[in-house]
Amino acid sequence: MSEFIKPEQIIVDDFVLKQIPGTPKFAKEIYDIFTTDSATFKHWFDGDMWKSVDEVERYYYDKSQNNDPRWKYAMYGIFRNNELLGEIGLSGIDTKNQTGEIGYWLKKSARGQGIVDKIMPTIEELGFEKFNLRKINIWCDNDNIASYRNAEKNGYKLEGIQRERKLWSDGSVHSTAMFGKLKSEYKKTL
Ligand SMILES: CC(C)(COP(=O)(O)OP(=O)(O)OC[C@H]1O[C@@H](n2cnc3c(N)ncnc32)[C@H](O)[C@@H]1OP(=O)(O)O)[C@@H](O)C(=O)NCCC(=O)NCCS
Repeated sequence: MSEFIKPEQIIVDDFVLKQIPGTPKFAKEIYDIFTTDSATFKHWFDGDMWKSVDEVERYYYDKSQNNDPRWKYAMYGIFRNNELLGEIGLSGIDTKNQTGEIGYWLKKSARGQGIVDKIMPTIEELGFEKFNLRKINIWCDNDNIASYRNAEKNGYKLEGIQRERKLWSDGSVHSTAMFGKLKSEYKKTL
C-alpha cells in the first residue's frame, strides 16, 4: 500500500526545505522553470517534463493531499529567501526492503553553488535515521555529468551501468548509472 510521508520543514544553512504547495502560483513558477531551462534538463527525462501549468498544479496538489498512489516519497522544495530553487528528497521508499532513492533538481540559476551537496547529508539522515533505510540509491543517466558528480562527491559507490536502459522519443538510447550507499557506509562518515 502506498503512503505519503508528509515532509516537515527542515532548515539547512540558508535553505528552507518544505513541501511545494499545489497552488497556481507555484505551478506556474515550476512550469516556467522547466520550459525556460528545458535544454538544461535534457539528461533527466524524455521530452517535456510538463505539458501544462494545470498538470503541475494537479501533481503537487495530489502530493499535498496524500493522493499520489504511486509510491512513498518525501520530497522537499528548496527555498532560499522565499525563492524556490529546486527540489530534493527521497522517492520510491520501499519499507519492505528498506531502500529509497535520492532525487533532485535545481533551476539553472541555482546550479554550480554546491546546493545539492550541502543538503544531501540532511536527506540521507532522514532516510537512514527517520525512515530506517538500509540503503539509498542514486540512479542517473550515464551522460548526466552533474548528477554523476553529485553522487560521487557524496560517497556513493558506482554499482553498475545498466546499458541502453531507455529509448527516448527522439530515438536516443540512454544507459543508467546506478549508485548506492549503505547505512554502514553512511555511519562511517558521521
Ligand atoms: C543535477 C543538478 C541538480 C546538479 O546541480 P549542481 O549540484 O549545482 O551541480 P553543478 O552544476 O555544480 O555540477 C556538479 C559538478 O559536475 C560538473 N559538471 C556539470 N556539468 C558538466 C559538464 N557538462 N562537463 C563537465 N563537468 C560538468 C561541474 O563542474 C561540477 O563539478 P565539481 O563538483 O567538480 O565542481 C542539476 O544539474 C540539475 O538540476 N539537473 C537537472 C535535473 C537532474 O538531472 N537531476 C538529477 C536526476 S538523477
